[in-house]
Amino acid sequence: MRPLSLPPVNSWNEWDPLREVVVGSAENSCFEPTEPGNKPTIRNSPGTPFPTGRKSKEAIDLANEELAGLVAVLESQGVTVRRPEPRNYASPIRTPDFEVKNQYCAVCPRDVLITIGNEILEATMSRRARYFEYQAYRSLVYQYWNADTRVAWTTAPKPSMADEMYREDFWAWPLEKRHAMMHSFEFCIHQNEVIFDAADISRFGTDILVQESMTTNRAGVRWLKRHLEPRGLRVHPVHFPLDLYPSHIDCTFVPLRPGLILTNPDRPLRDGEEKMFLANEWEFVEAPQPVLGNDEMPPYCQSSRWLSMNILSISPTKVICEEQETPLQRLLEKHGFEVLPIPFRNVFEYGGSLHCATWDVRREGNREDYFPHVAYQPLT
Ligand code: ARG
Repeated sequence: MRPLSLPPVNSWNEWDPLREVVVGSAENSCFEPTEPGNKPTIRNSPGTPFPTGRKSKEAIDLANEELAGLVAVLESQGVTVRRPEPRNYASPIRTPDFEVKNQYCAVCPRDVLITIGNEILEATMSRRARYFEYQAYRSLVYQYWNADTRVAWTTAPKPSMADEMYREDFWAWPLEKRHAMMHSFEFCIHQNEVIFDAADISRFGTDILVQESMTTNRAGVRWLKRHLEPRGLRVHPVHFPLDLYPSHIDCTFVPLRPGLILTNPDRPLRDGEEKMFLANEWEFVEAPQPVLGNDEMPPYCQSSRWLSMNILSISPTKVICEEQETPLQRLLEKHGFEVLPIPFRNVFEYGGSLHCATWDVRREGNREDYFPHVAYQPLT
């Protein structure tokens, strides 16, 4: 019997050959507003208020040009590319529990949606300005869901995002307190509601890593465990204690192919959490220092210089990398990868780089167990 063709939604890990992907769009983007879960600041201008409202046409055009460049490279590699629906982000929104002056953008689908096997999972999100970001992708999700009965679609419970959900004093903690709190993994969100962003999750076949962060709490990890363990998956919370403002795992711990992970030398895993990798003969390779210093990042960019690591795998042997990050490109080539470099710096102020700005919908391959030797304790 011929094997059934792949369902339109099928992706079990971060590296299998990519067939279909959604690339974000900067259309109608606004500056991210100040809110209890986010205090954006201008780089190197302490005290200057962060701009509000719409981003300039010039800034949007520059980002869209680079996003179009990414689309062109992906299409040249035979990957089908889909885009979000343009929406208005400039108007205030109000729910029974919160108000916010404007929304943000639809540049980083990675933060909102994740494919786990044949399931599309919409994250709860953690910030008010991103509460409704899923809307830009809804018509795509409906198309995938309507196309094949094997496609599952789940939306995680929406948190209130009320004032009580946040620990606002987090932002004012002095450095000593931050260091003292480093191992407690308490950030700007409390633990009383289920909260996670999709980009705190990383997929390794049967095993799923979830980073506890400013955007994912322990209730979020528990919800993911209860949702995914009955499907035969193993969910492992992971921690990077030296990252005092953690959010989204894809600049910290980046799987490249079975057995190989790109790690961030400034953000080692919590002691003990490396065991499952070592016991299964996975190798860690440290990313080189990024080309840009922290002070040289674009002024409105809220991410760290480690956006350098935010690469997109097209296959276990081919990756797309930011054009100027040549030390990383050489390292990847040394490990046998073909590197496709493209300019992407103008996208940084929209929340991320190449991995963030994409949502892989379909990759070849099935679920594999890459960690046969793992001591795993399911929640139940
Ligand atoms: N917090 C990360 C850093 O600054 C940025 C992560 C961006 N990732 C994303 N999926 N938006 O290192």
